[in-house]
Amino acid sequence: MRLLVTGGAGFIGSNYVRHRLAAHSDDGVVVLDKLTYAGRRENLDGLPDERLEFVEGDISDRDAVASAINGCDAVVNFAAESHVDRSIASPGEFITTDVFGAFVLAEAAREAGVRHLQVSTDEVYGSIEDGSFTEDSPIDPSSPYSASKAGADLLVLAFQRTYGADALICRSSNNYGPHQYPEKLIPLCILNAIAGDPVPVYGDGLQVRNWLFVEDNCAAIDAVLERGDAGEVYNAGGPDELPNIEVVRAILELTDRDESLIEYVSDRLGHDRRYSLATSEKLRALGWEPAVRFGPGLARTVDWYRDNAQWWEPIRSGDYRSYYERQYGRALG
Ligand code: NAD
Ligand code: DAU
Repeated sequence: MRLLVTGGAGFIGSNYVRHRLAAHSDDGVVVLDKLTYAGRRENLDGLPDERLEFVEGDISDRDAVASAINGCDAVVNFAAESHVDRSIASPGEFITTDVFGAFVLAEAAREAGVRHLQVSTDEVYGSIEDGSFTEDSPIDPSSPYSASKAGADLLVLAFQRTYGADALICRSSNNYGPHQYPEKLIPLCILNAIAGDPVPVYGDGLQVRNWLFVEDNCAAIDAVLERGDAGEVYNAGGPDELPNIEVVRAILELTDRDESLIEYVSDRLGHDRRYSLATSEKLRALGWEPAVRFGPGLARTVDWYRDNAQWWEPIRSGDYRSYYERQYGRALG
C-alpha cells in the first residue's frame, strides 16, 4: 500500500509513519506537511528514504493535495492546528486547516476513490462529569479547536453518507510520548522540571484527562484503517484517567524535583473538566487494546526527553520563548 499521511511531521503523525513503515515492510508513505511551528522534518529522521517521500505543503491547497494523493491507496489525516490554548488566543487558523483543509482532503480522497481516515479527538464530545463517552454520544465541543475538529468529523461523515465516500474516523483521548511539542501539559512540564523552571497548573489542577500512549494510538489508527467500516467512528480510549495535578506530581518524581516547582496559574477559558472514553467494543472487535499503562508510558516519555536534548533545545531556545511568555506571563529560565 502507498499511504498519504498528512500532518506526518507532527507528534502523532510522525509516530504513526514510523509505526506503519515498521509494521508493513512493503508499504510506502508520502508525507504532506506544512511544517508549522509544530511540524518538524527531523521527526522523520532515520526512516528508510526509499519508502518515504516528504512533501512540504498545505492541506488547504487543492493542487498540493491533488498532486500528493496521486498514486496513493489511502489517506490518513493528522494535519491540524492542535493546541486548545492557541485556539482560544487565535482561532482563525483552526478553521482554515482543521475544517477547510479537512474538506479539501475529503474531496480529493473521494475524487481519487481512496479510503480516507480522519484522525479526531475525544474533545469533540465536550466534558463529562460521570461515566464515559461512547461512539454514540452526541458531540458538544467547548473550544474553537474542538469545534473545528467536530466540523471536520461532520463533513467526513456527510461525504460518506451523501457520496458513498470510503471515509471513517478514529477519535482518541489525550496522547503522550516522544516527539510531542512542549506546549502540551506532559512535555511542557517534563522540560520545565528538567530545567528547574516552575510547572504551570491551570486552576485547581483537578481536571481529569484519559491518557493514551502514542504507540497505542498508532496501532488503533492502523486497525481502523485496515479493518474499519466506512461511515463509522471508532474511539481509542486510554487505560488510565488522572487529575492533572497527579500527572504533574508523577513528572516531578521522575525528574527528581519536588513540589515547590508547582505554580498554580489562571485557568483556561471554557476549560473542560473531565474527558473519558469508554473502552470501545468496536475497536476491540477490530483486535485493538491499549498495551501501555500510564506509569511505564510516562517513564519512557521522561527518558526520551532526557536523552534527546538535541530535539528540544532548538525549540526551547527559539520562538517558543515568546509563545511561553504570552501564554504564561513569565519568561522561561
Ligand atoms: P501536532 O500539532 O503535533 O502536529 C500537527 C502536524 O500538522 C504538524 O506537523 C503540522 O506542521 C501539520 N500541519 C498543520 N497545519 C497544516 C496544514 N494546513 N497542512 C499540512 N500540514 C499541517 O498535532 P498532534 O498532537 O500530532 O495531533 C495530530 C492529530 O491528532 C490532530 O488532528 C489532532 O487533532 C489529533 N489528536 C491529537 C491528540 C493529542 O493528544 N495530541 C489526541 C487526539 C487527537
Ligand atoms: O483529548 C485529546 C486532546 O488532548 C487533543 O485533541 C488535543 O490536540 C491535545 O492538545 C489535548 O488537549 P488538552 O487540552 O486536554 O491537552 P493539554 O496538554 O493542553 O492539557 C491537558 C490538561 O492540562 C488540561 O486540563 C489543561 C491542563 N494544563 C495544560 C497546560 C499546557 C495545565 O494545567 N497547564 C499547562 O501548562
